[in-house]
Formats: sequence, C-alpha cells, structure tokens
Amino acid sequence: MKRVTKVTALAAAMVMLAGTLTACGSSKGDTLTFGTNAEFPPFEFVASEGVIGQYDGIDMAIAKNIAEQNGMTAEIENMEFDSLLVALQNGQIDAVIAGMTATDERRETVDFSTPYYTATQVMIVKEDSDIAAASDMADKRICVVQGYTGEVCVQDMGYPYEAFKKGTEAVLELTNGKCDVVVIDSATAQKYVSDNEGLKIVEDASAFESEEYAIAVQKGNTELLEKINKSIESMLADGTVNELAVKYTEAVSE
Ligand code: ARG
Repeated sequence: MKRVTKVTALAAAMVMLAGTLTACGSSKGDTLTFGTNAEFPPFEFVASEGVIGQYDGIDMAIAKNIAEQNGMTAEIENMEFDSLLVALQNGQIDAVIAGMTATDERRETVDFSTPYYTATQVMIVKEDSDIAAASDMADKRICVVQGYTGEVCVQDMGYPYEAFKKGTEAVLELTNGKCDVVVIDSATAQKYVSDNEGLKIVEDASAFESEEYAIAVQKGNTELLEKINKSIESMLADGTVNELAVKYTEAVSE
C-alpha cells in the first residue's frame, strides 16, 4: 500500500514536471533571443528607455520588428562583441544583430541574412591632424576596437596598433592625446565626433572597402534565416530601415 502511494506520488510529480517543461518550452518558442554588444551607437546602445527594455538603436528596432512580424517577442542578450558568434554557435542566442559586417571569415562559422546597411571604416583624428589618407597612419599611433573589422583592416595594412574593448575607450585615448587615429565604422565614428570636441573624420575610399551589416544565425538554420530575410526585405522595401537610420543618427547627434 505504502509503495503504491509512493509510485503514485512520483507519477504525479513527473506529470507536474512535464507540465512545467512544456510551459517553459512553449514560452521559449515565442521568444527570439538576439545577441548584441550595446556599445555601438547608433545601432545599439543602452538608454534609460529603449525599444527593447534598456536597449535602443537601429538594430534594436529592427530586431523588435522581426520578432513581432513573426509573432514572437524579441529579447536581448548583451555581451562582448568577441563572444557573440561563440554564443550563437552554442545556442545561447538565436541570432546576432550587432552592426556586424558579413565577412567571408565569419561566413565560415555562421550564416548571414540579407544585408540591411552599408558602411565603411573611417579614421577619427584630432581636428589639426595631418592624416589625410590611410597610408598616413604608417608612423602614427593607431587605436582600434578588438574584434571589429577595423582591427582586421589595420592588421591587413601591416601597421602596429593598440586594441581596446570599447569604441569609447579608443576615442578617449585619442582625445587624451595618447593615440593619433581611431579606425572604426562610419556611423559610429560620426556619433563619437559629435560627442567630443576637436575631432574630425577622414575617409579613404581607396583603402577601406564598403561593408555590409547583416544578421547572423547558426549555420544551416534556414527556417529562422528565411523569416529574418523576409522581414528585412520588407523593411528595406517600405523604407523602415531608412527611417530608423535617419531617426537614430539625428537622435544621437543631438
Ligand atoms: N562592423 C564592425 C564589425 O563587424 C563593428 C561592429 C561592432 N558592433 C558592436 N555592436 N559592437 O566588426
């Protein structure tokens, strides 16, 4: 008799556990978890009130739209830029949206969506700098952000450089006079120049190729990739991406 009771209790516990698991599983199904590195205005930054919790920016609005258009809720996991692709491969996040350039090297480990933004690397220098082209960096102290395509560019040019964890740290080094030039993505550079007195942007289209930002998913996750592509294509076609770019570049340069 006693034994039967125990078995029944165990069975009941298992049913409850199964119920919990199902509830968990289905709620997880309604969530689309994007990984980002919210240190990259105007694409992603932390704000007192963002479009997804405290996260705001062009990418965050795009992520929210993608989730909503597919009947899901967008969730953000903020981490170091270098950790994003590993977290994606581990399944810790469903997708990466981080102003991430779709490069051949990254394509070896993840799949990229239809690109939604075209950028280029630029040089941020002091207003009185004599740097006018990328080749002028040869004998200068160069700062980049670790893991960004800007680092790869400078590496490929064969110049020594110092890498920082955040764009703001590299720019601080520049304003403090400890470095001569920061190589970083164009729109983010604009933001730093408008935030800090005495800086300007130098472009060199012959040295820096154009880059395309895209969303990354796990290799072979075509189901999610198709959903994301459909949303991106509709947001490109109806002008949403453009509007967001205008909105956030104005907002951050105020
Ligand atoms: N576009 C550059 C890259 O792909 C920089 C991206 C930085 N993004 C960020 N959220 N911190 O490497």
